[in-house]
Amino acid sequence: MQIDLDYADRHVVVFGGTTGINFGIAQAFARQRARVTVASRRQENVDAAVAALAAVREAGAEVHGVVADVRDFDAVGAAFAQSVQRFGPVDVLVSGAAGNFLCAAQAMSSNGFKVVVDIDLVGSFHVLRQAHAHLRKPGASVIQITAPQSFVPMRYQAHASAAKAGVDQLTRTLALEWGGEGIRVNSISPGPIDGTEGFRKLMAPTAEDRAFALGQVPLQRFGSLDDIANLALFLGSPYAAYISGALIPCDGGGALESVKPALEAAGRRGPGAAG
Ligand code: HXC
Ligand code: NAP
Repeated sequence: MQIDLDYADRHVVVFGGTTGINFGIAQAFARQRARVTVASRRQENVDAAVAALAAVREAGAEVHGVVADVRDFDAVGAAFAQSVQRFGPVDVLVSGAAGNFLCAAQAMSSNGFKVVVDIDLVGSFHVLRQAHAHLRKPGASVIQITAPQSFVPMRYQAHASAAKAGVDQLTRTLALEWGGEGIRVNSISPGPIDGTEGFRKLMAPTAEDRAFALGQVPLQRFGSLDDIANLALFLGSPYAAYISGALIPCDGGGALESVKPALEAAGRRGPGAAG
């Protein structure tokens, strides 16, 4: 079920927008007739996302796909230049590219820590920094996709917890710096969203883990792509005109609990734990 807001003639860029939660957001904006740019690393993901959005195109949306790795500052800049040439200034920017895996800190290599910080945090800086010149001023809405680990520490998530905490401080800092130009910057913090890569990898690799994860959500259900997309549609719209610098959980109340991967609750050893 999606809220109905007209995004006709609005340009929405979704970085990391070719799969999962971010693709759900891209699809929702396309259904509201936006001009949507999706960007990610892999050509096959970009092609598949653009093809999947083809049906929505018939409803008046326009779709453009770009290949860019958020770790490559110049490639991100080129992606914006290309998309803005096609669809004009950016009205809504969603920055959601991320990578993750479970690993105990003492077993994590320096490069393993660095790769997640590079994608999630440095990559977000690249996306927002390169977007700034192309954002509609005043009026643009920037939405970062963060995670509960940014404020609820989670075992085996040293890299992602540190990176997403940085992402949220980037949100708050740029809300301060860019507010005078009429740009709003907010973070959405999704809870366990069923059917996504992050959920499968981190919270529900087995049926037992899945059942445990459900017990950690006060509303007693997993989230859907629409749950997150609805919040993004709202934050991108004039109805959210006075919301900036906010970190908004969309998690069924899950962040109120201490988030634990099931293997910890079951007394099993952490992945990659030494000794
Ligand atoms: C330990 C690992 C590892 C693992 C990789 N590494 N996987 N270490 N356990 N499972 C280490 C490698 O050994 C290497 O270090 C370093 O990380 C880089 O690995 P690469 O495979 O070369 O990196 P790359 O190809 O750039 O891939 C990045 C990635 C990958 C993050 C490792 O998983 C990826 O691209 N993921 C994107 C999709 C994804 O993860 N989506 C979920 C997002 S969910 P060495 O030292 O050997 O060189 C999310 C939050 C969900 O973010 C929150 C839910 C509550
Ligand atoms: P996903 O399907 O793996 O989505 C990640 C997206 O980012 C993909 O489109 C991927 O495409 C892209 N990406 C990865 N590395 C990139 C890079 N270096 N440069 C550019 N694009 C890159 O994961 P998801 O589970 O839906 O998660 C989406 C977002 O929600 C993430 O920010 C995640 O932290 C957050 N989140 C998810 C959950 C959950 O339950 N799933 C919970 C909390 C927060 P390519 O592989 O083609 O690059």
